[in-house]
Order: sequence, then structure tokens, then C-alpha cells
Amino acid sequence: IVEHTFRVSTPSLPRVCQPGNVTVTAVNGRVPGPEIEAREGDTLVVHVINDSPYNVTVHWHGVFQRGTPWADGPAMVTQCPIRLGHRYTYRFAVAGQEGTLWWHAHSSFMRSTVHGALVIRPRRGAGAGAGRYPFRTPDEEKTVLLGEWWNGDTVVLENQAFSTGKTMRNADAYTINGMPGDLYGCPEMTNNRIAKFEVSRDKTYLLRIINAALNTAFFFKVAGHTFTVVAADASYTEPYETDVIVIAPGQTVDALMAADASPGCYYMAISSYQSANPSLPFNGNTSTAVVEYLDAAPAPTSYPSSSPLFPTLPEPNDTFTAHQFYTSLTALVRLSRLAVPLAVDTRMFVTIGLGFSICQLTQTQCMSNQTVVVATMNNVSFTLPTTVSMLEAQYRDTPDGVYTRDFPDQPPVVFDYTSTSLPRALSSTGSPSTTKVKTLRYNATVEMVLQNTALIGRESHPMHLHGFNFFVLAQGFGNYDGGDAAGEEKFNLVNPQERNTIAVPTGGWAVIRFVADNPGMWAMHCHIDAHLRIGLGMVFEVESGPTPETALPPPPPHFPQC
Ligand code: C2O
Repeated sequence: IVEHTFRVSTPSLPRVCQPGNVTVTAVNGRVPGPEIEAREGDTLVVHVINDSPYNVTVHWHGVFQRGTPWADGPAMVTQCPIRLGHRYTYRFAVAGQEGTLWWHAHSSFMRSTVHGALVIRPRRGAGAGAGRYPFRTPDEEKTVLLGEWWNGDTVVLENQAFSTGKTMRNADAYTINGMPGDLYGCPEMTNNRIAKFEVSRDKTYLLRIINAALNTAFFFKVAGHTFTVVAADASYTEPYETDVIVIAPGQTVDALMAADASPGCYYMAISSYQSANPSLPFNGNTSTAVVEYLDAAPAPTSYPSSSPLFPTLPEPNDTFTAHQFYTSLTALVRLSRLAVPLAVDTRMFVTIGLGFSICQLTQTQCMSNQTVVVATMNNVSFTLPTTVSMLEAQYRDTPDGVYTRDFPDQPPVVFDYTSTSLPRALSSTGSPSTTKVKTLRYNATVEMVLQNTALIGRESHPMHLHGFNFFVLAQGFGNYDGGDAAGEEKFNLVNPQERNTIAVPTGGWAVIRFVADNPGMWAMHCHIDAHLRIGLGMVFEVESGPTPETALPPPPPHFPQC
């Protein structure tokens, strides 16, 4: 049993590039919050005490929650939030998965500061391979949490922005392990606001990289060093050598890095890929950290960016580099727990993207007849219920007034990316803002084509599925060319990567498959919070199986009530 206490409160933390402090919501007073270390098969017990003025839930991003759907965490999907002054204990196992995951608040934009790493190492034990990684054992492990920082309370900023029909303003800085680095060029910046990773020559480090940013995908590099990617989203991959890592919000990458350069100081740097917010107020879109060889001469007190030890980062619109990285990852099949299912029970073609809508009363506080930007899946803009969680309604079989079971398998019109007029412009005439689920029979194999509409902005949407990993069978650009035999020939059915978050290519598509063997309510949504807030999500309702062990369990004791 791995036990933690998370006290959620609103400490004052230093601003970036401005004097003084700002009040943020944080766990145990820190951003990022505590790291949870576990071994496969462990039970996690996390006591959440809410001393903040807000409603809170915690989501264990990527944890399957097999048999514990009530512990998943998304507000109003699987639970009512933990209210101010209340506490709740999450209890679940981390089983059947190893690698790097993370936890974050799943209510409002609070996850910008309420998040932390969740590391699952192989279980201890006897026998070949027990307790070992399926790659060269690293000398040391280092968590690299990428984030975004606002000089403000993001819950307040979010409410201000969306109540006036606008989207939230850009982050004030990108961060590595909570620190902005030294490129923002502000007088208040000092070296203690830059993350340092100390290494020793000839040792090998396992970097556990997590993108916890609200709205930004990153390119990640370390000057003078290359990586061997060994896992993504807590699924082992065939070793993949690269000098650049691409990581979308919600994704994780585990990569070995050998300290084989000549001793010195090297920049680690991140820059935005296809960001919705391409420029930040404080000088650019790059954040830095330093990799410092312990055995080097004393480190300089500043690290000029003109120095040759700064990595060359791809341009923000470098779709080629992103696609190259994403499509080069394959599963380490000998350790996969599930073969790719070949027979498909449920096929879905789902458009994802942003569009315009006329403001509806169901949307928060916008004025009628005002045109607003909405995000949709198959032209449906998702909104959360307010009175009871969807899982509770499923369990009690009382969906009326909470959700409907008519999430469409197809868009309302045939989507054509190449068309310059309607019907390319899905949702331009208004999208219903509703709570629709797709109901799945227990154990059904689902295939989803995710087609990016790129109607307003051309950007990649990181689509995250709760409760499952899925296989990524194929991805490409333009219109998905049909689910016919010719199309399927391009599917990787041998060693496709398993993920919980797929960055659907900019102006392109991806095909995923998963087996719905976990009864409950499982959200699927864009991990760009600005898009989720305006409807880019849906929920799968997975029915109970035939046996007591595969039935939806009752809610745990002391479960939060609305
Ligand atoms: Cu990491 Cu529903 O989120």
C-alpha cells in the first residue's frame, strides 16, 4: 500500500517576471505537487483534504481503474467534487501497467497548478526479469514535468474569460519542474528559478517526461545529447533513438539519456508545437533547464542562450518533425498484455475540432444570439451534468435528465477536408451543447477514426481516453481515406503503440482500437483544457459484464455527494 495525504490549499507563490506573489491552488503548498512512487500491483491510498475555496477532484491520468471506476476522478463524470472543507480518500490499484503516469485536478482549470508525477516501477519479485526494466537499467531516474504558469489564479482567470465569451489568455511562461528558466529575460529572474539536472559522466539516466501543460504541446531537447525512447504513456516501446521528443498535453515519454558528452553545462529546452497560444507575453515560447555535469569545472552563473550548448529546436509549425516522432513509436510486443483485436464490434468515425455556434442558454453566461467558439465531436459540444455524476446515474439506472445515449457514430454530414465551403464547416450553424454518451457492450472492440476538422485553427488535438489504453493503428493527413480494405492495409496490427492520449495530426486523422472490458463511465476528451471547456469531449458508458466480477461495483463509502 502506498499512502499519501494531499492537502489542497491556496498558497502564495512567486510570480514570473513580476515582483511579488500570486495565490494559486496547490497540493501540499507546492507546484508541481508530490510525486507518487509505486510498483506495479500496489494499492494507492490518497487522502485528499480540500482546504481551498474551490471544488476539487483528482484524476489519476492513465490509470486503468479496472473495477474501481469511482476512483477515476473527472468531476461530474465519475464523481461529485470534494467540496471546501471536505475530504475524500481515493483507493485503487495500479495494475497491469508500468512507466510514467501522473495525477491532476479534473475540475475547472485548476490542473495548471494541481498536478504531479505518478511513477509505476516493475513489481518486486523472483524469477527472470522480475523487478527489472526491459531495457538497460538506468543509473538514476529523473522526473521532468513540463507545465504552463499564469501569474494569476487560473480558476479565476478561466471564469473571467469564459463568462465574457472569450478564451483564456496565454500562459505567462512555460515551466520545467515548475521553473520558467532563464530565457524570459526578466530582471527578477535568478538562477534558482531554473531547474537543474545533475549528471555524472558515463552514467545513464531515465528521464520521465510528463506534459502537464493546460494548452501546449512541446518539442523537448537537450543540447549535445540524444535519447532512447523506451516507453510512452506507461507502455513500453521498442527502443527509438532520437534527438527530439514531441509531447502533447496529457502524454508521457520515458527516455534514456546517456551522459556521454564532454563534461560541462547543457541546456534542456522546450518550445511550443502548434500551440493555440503561439507567443507568450514574456519573450517567446521557450523554457529552459540545465543539465550539469557534476565533475565539470564550476558552473557559470548564467547560461547565455547564444552559447553553442543550446539545442536547436524545431519551428512551432514543424508538423513533419512531430509526425516523424509520433509515427516512429511501436510497442514492445513481448511485454504487451493484450494483442491487437482483429475483429471490430463497433466502428465510429468522429470529427473533432472547433467551430462557431450561436450561444445557447445551456452555455455559461453568454448572451443570446452571440456567436461563440465551440468545440465538438461529431458536431456535438459536450457539457457536464450539474446535479449528479454520470457514473452514479449509470449505476442507479437513472440517466433521465443526466445524459442521453445518442452520441452519434458518424458526423451529421460527410466530412470533406478538401472542401472550402460547407459541409467542411461542421458546426457553423450551431452545435447542440449536450451530455451524450456512446454506450458499449461489455468487451466490445471499438474502432474510432478521429478526424481533425481544423476548421478554425489548424492544430493537433491530444485526445485522451480514460479507463483504457488504445492501440494506434494508423495516422495521416487530409481526409481519412475510408475504412475499406485498402485503408486497413496501412494499419499496424503487429506492434502498434499503446497510448492513453493520441495527438491527432494537424489537418489529419488517427485510427485507434480498444476493448471495452471495464464497466463504468469513461471520458474521452481533448487534453487542451481550453478546448475541453468549450465542449471537445464525450463519454463512453461501458455496460456491466455477465459475472459478478465484471459488474459495475457500488460506490465506495463516504463518496462525495453533490
Ligand atoms: Cu488527464 Cu480527463 O484527463
